[in-house]
Amino acid sequence: MSNAYAPPAELAANAHADEAKYNEMYAASVADPDAFWAEHGKRIDWIKPFTKVKNTRFDFGDVSIKWFEDGTLNIAANCIDRHLATRGTQTAIIWEPDDPTAEAQHITYQQLHAHVCKMANVLKDMGVTKGDRVVLYMPMIPQAAYAMLACARIGAIHSVVFGGFSPDALAARVNGCDAKVVVTADEAPRGGRNTPLKTNADKAFESVTGDTKMLVVKRTGGDIPMVEGRDVWLHEAEAQVSDECPPEEMNAEDPLFILYTSGSTGAPKGVVHTTGGYIVYASMTHQYVFDYKDGDVFWCTADVGWVTGHSYIVYGPLANGATTLMFEGVPTYPDASRFWQVCEEHKVNQFYTAPTALRALMGQGDNYVTKCDLSSLRILGTVGEPINPEAWEWYYKVVGGSRCPIVDTWWQTETGGHMMTPLPGAHAAKPGSAMKPFFGVQPVVLEPQSGEEITTYPCEGVLCIKDSWPSQMRTVWGDHERFMKTYFSDYKGYYFAGDGCKRDEDGDWWITGRVDDVINVSGHRMGTAEVESALVAHPAVAESAVVGYPHEIKGQGIYAYVTLMAGQEYTDELRTELSNWVRKEIGPIAKPDLIQWAPGLPKTRSGKIMRRILRKIAENDYGALGDTSTLADPSVVDELIENRMNR
Ligand code: WT7
Repeated sequence: MSNAYAPPAELAANAHADEAKYNEMYAASVADPDAFWAEHGKRIDWIKPFTKVKNTRFDFGDVSIKWFEDGTLNIAANCIDRHLATRGTQTAIIWEPDDPTAEAQHITYQQLHAHVCKMANVLKDMGVTKGDRVVLYMPMIPQAAYAMLACARIGAIHSVVFGGFSPDALAARVNGCDAKVVVTADEAPRGGRNTPLKTNADKAFESVTGDTKMLVVKRTGGDIPMVEGRDVWLHEAEAQVSDECPPEEMNAEDPLFILYTSGSTGAPKGVVHTTGGYIVYASMTHQYVFDYKDGDVFWCTADVGWVTGHSYIVYGPLANGATTLMFEGVPTYPDASRFWQVCEEHKVNQFYTAPTALRALMGQGDNYVTKCDLSSLRILGTVGEPINPEAWEWYYKVVGGSRCPIVDTWWQTETGGHMMTPLPGAHAAKPGSAMKPFFGVQPVVLEPQSGEEITTYPCEGVLCIKDSWPSQMRTVWGDHERFMKTYFSDYKGYYFAGDGCKRDEDGDWWITGRVDDVINVSGHRMGTAEVESALVAHPAVAESAVVGYPHEIKGQGIYAYVTLMAGQEYTDELRTELSNWVRKEIGPIAKPDLIQWAPGLPKTRSGKIMRRILRKIAENDYGALGDTSTLADPSVVDELIENRMNR
């Protein structure tokens, strides 16, 4: 059995849930979901209270998910207005800029109210109404949160596109949801360098098909062209509008946001989250999983371009009246001490980051951490990918001073909030284990081939969820068939997460990684098919196959096998060109780490690429290739091994 780290007794005694409380609440949540969520649905202020709670079906061909369906509410009112009477002068958002010498901003709930109302009025003036889509392509600045909340306030559906995505990727998403407005900024400073967001957006607009306007935030003051009649400066428009904007009454099942995410096939899909269930679940997980208490300073280091930023920088914390820290920079600028200096300066109580950042920082030496006063830290969290025990132990001992429980939170863009995680006061965490399901979540291990539930443990198989939870995605934007096919067709009657898992002898859960053609690069999800289609879009490329391989810092690296068009020369220059090409097509996070020239790819006689073999070679584990006798031409394998890039 692996080590288990029990929470300090005092922390457990004061936590929202100790072990007995967790057990009691979990049992109640699965015994009678309607009663449990009727009770916890009250944590949100409803305009018209719901009378129905759960109405969900996982039947392939007829999947339908509704929670609190006759209730009405407004999320911005829940995240702002309802706090004004009691905490109007409390800081809602602490903003820490990229430049460590620039002053941090403290935005109170009152100020947040005014900013959000103004931006909501500007969006209205630009023609945005309830149900319209607004794309955000933003730096990590408070205006990103204002824009999300402004949309929520007027009932517009936001779709945040990560600022690291390319113009092409942005255009695809703007067209995909037919956005009325794109909100962006002149430039995004990160790590001392400025990304030209507005210029990228201009490039994207060359292939935007609708009549889309642009709202531009002045962040750096960099010199950028504005297009007359299309582009609006936020600061100019704001000067013309009121700082009051009544919140729109929304149905619990009205969409709140769309977030594009990668899958094993096709182009990224627009994950749709709705209003009532999402905010109940995001706020409740934020409170219990991080043991958030009034007055705590909470810091999630994710970008608002990912679901983690939606649920745990903006919506969960603000619904709870929390102080949430938003950081514009990167962990290694100006040096590897930045995270810890920010923790010290703002007396951060809960710190939530990705294993890839920890692995990178761990390699720089402990001094960057230990020279900072981290005594304010109480809870540490990780998210996005499996954490290796070495990084876990380092986090626990060096960052947390062996005093702070670590919550390793397993969840997905699709799940809206945490699905499995230890609760800090309830569970003795084992390094690398996601431990226990959150309230209302019913995970099962299925035998991959038969789809039978495995009820004995220890066991291993594919991870599915048996029944709905409030913040589950409702559909794929514009394509309910694809939603059903992706998540409900492989294992009938279950939500299939795409991950493998183990349940150990104590019944604790371990995530073993994706079982589909999705790879996880530095906690970012990447469909291998997307990288392949970017590669074959290059005129010199005939075919490509992309797989993941273990990477010390990134978790997984991107390994591409490329076959060139007949007559093309296999040169190092072209290799570099292809890397940069993918970077341009999708964004820096998709750039292949290794490209292997593959004049031949291992295929079955029916022409199917045998990825299992390619994965093994990329892992430098070619001794165990298994059966290659079904290959049309087994000799290509020897050649690939001979020229492998990862040695
Ligand atoms: C995939 C979801 C919502 C979190 C940010 C990523 C992997 C996520 C863990 C964890 C092991 C994890 C899974 C999952 N993953 N958290 N704690 N331990 N794996 O969201 O981009 O939707 O990716 O990230 O493989 O399916 P995402």
